[in-house]
Amino acid sequence: MSCSRPPLDRRAFLGLMGGASILAARAEELKGAGLQDPRTNLPPVHAQELTLTARAATLPHGTGEAEFWTVQGQVPAPTLRFRRGDTARITLLNELPESTILHWHGLDVPEAADGHPRLAIDPGQRYEYAFEVTDRAGTYWYHPHTHERTAPQTYRGMAGFLIVEDDEEEALGLPTDAHDLPLLLQDKRVDPDGAPEYLPAMGPDLMLGYLGDTPYVNGAPGGALEVRRARYRLRLLNGSNARIFNLGLVGGGPFTLIGADGGLRSEADTVERLMLATGERADVLVDFSRFAPGERITLRSYPFTVPGMMGMGGGPEMGMGRGGMGRGMHGGYAGLPQGAEMDLLDFVVGSGPVEDAPPLPDRLSEVAPLSLDPNATRRAFRFESMMMQHTINGRSFAMDRVDLRVPLGRQEVWELINDSGLPHPVHVHAGQFRVASRSGGRDRVMPWEAGPKDTVLVLPGERVEIAVRFTRNLGLFLLHCHNLEHEDAGMMMNFLVEE
Ligand code: C2O
Ligand code: CU
Ligand code: CU
Repeated sequence: MSCSRPPLDRRAFLGLMGGASILAARAEELKGAGLQDPRTNLPPVHAQELTLTARAATLPHGTGEAEFWTVQGQVPAPTLRFRRGDTARITLLNELPESTILHWHGLDVPEAADGHPRLAIDPGQRYEYAFEVTDRAGTYWYHPHTHERTAPQTYRGMAGFLIVEDDEEEALGLPTDAHDLPLLLQDKRVDPDGAPEYLPAMGPDLMLGYLGDTPYVNGAPGGALEVRRARYRLRLLNGSNARIFNLGLVGGGPFTLIGADGGLRSEADTVERLMLATGERADVLVDFSRFAPGERITLRSYPFTVPGMMGMGGGPEMGMGRGGMGRGMHGGYAGLPQGAEMDLLDFVVGSGPVEDAPPLPDRLSEVAPLSLDPNATRRAFRFESMMMQHTINGRSFAMDRVDLRVPLGRQEVWELINDSGLPHPVHVHAGQFRVASRSGGRDRVMPWEAGPKDTVLVLPGERVEIAVRFTRNLGLFLLHCHNLEHEDAGMMMNFLVEE
């Protein structure tokens, strides 16, 4: 094994180093233009074989430096790009002071490559992943999945994009290269020096999840990004621990929605708002050629009220907000409440010439219409949050307990029921599902939920039916709430896909 490694490691290494200097040059360029560097042009690693090292790193941040937990010393973790059909061979080296394991969120991979917490490796160990990338072209991501430690590890910096490309998507003439912007959206609580800190208080932080006070884009407090007068593809990923973003463009008109978790939609749609909970993605087009040089278009999370959360920090009017009392003290400071308005990033339109984009085809992709099998097995999952406990059907996660058995290849309809007072974004491993219905609350399937999905937001009072079918991989996989504090508290279960 190790004798064949060095050249491959070297290739990945060179790719990363090249990326780092591009990033530095980009930062200089932005500084020259008086704009803050939101680190939006992430240099991708395009490799079928690579070694990823999880390690602590001190990086410049805020007014000084901060310690992050990183993949390859980078925050965010490097963007990985694969071609559909590639065989990915990834070696994870753990140089953190605690155990870890990475999970490829949204990909349909074999059990041994899925990053189940029972596969976590100790400091100094390595884990070899091998999987064929069979998934549709789209925006996926990766992050740790360590038992009871997913929240702190992800928060401290270990999250990155995993982008799958294929011929079908390439033929559409969508924006590429510098016009294809992956935007990792997060929120952090920052200490007085501007460094993110993870100090959850026993009460609200473990109940609501760790809500920040400062919006972050691609690992830095959101600043401004100069864009050309051209059409862009924004790959929006909510990689927060607990924050829900209700996205819109101030002064920019609606988004052209082209895809979500599991890749392209069959046709584009136009949406004013996009509500993304943790783990969810949306692919949108924004045409900046319509604006005059110097115009600013803000990517904002618009305020909203979470039903059933009144008095629990569930509305924009509640809470102490930024600069509130007790910052950094356990139990004293709860970040901005869920639903608070946040400005994530300003796009500043550059002064160059208008760049024409080819017309968007009417048909983007083949997405099979959802067909529900009347004989499908139906199961109910109740998400409950009470007395600092987060459970599914009354149970907390147990590493080796098989909570349900699902036959390979057969459709099942799972009803996700939220009678609790808190939002629960529900995520299922081993591929994509379809959202069949929502009753209560918003009472409909939202536009960004029309195609393949791996995570669906279930707000208090909502019942969401999803149609699942596992077609490729046998073994033990996870269903969990993607509020990372809820997940770490045990709002997770094992299902076994069997013949
Ligand atoms: Cu994004 Cu099981 O996680
Ligand atoms: Cu996942
Ligand atoms: Cu939850």
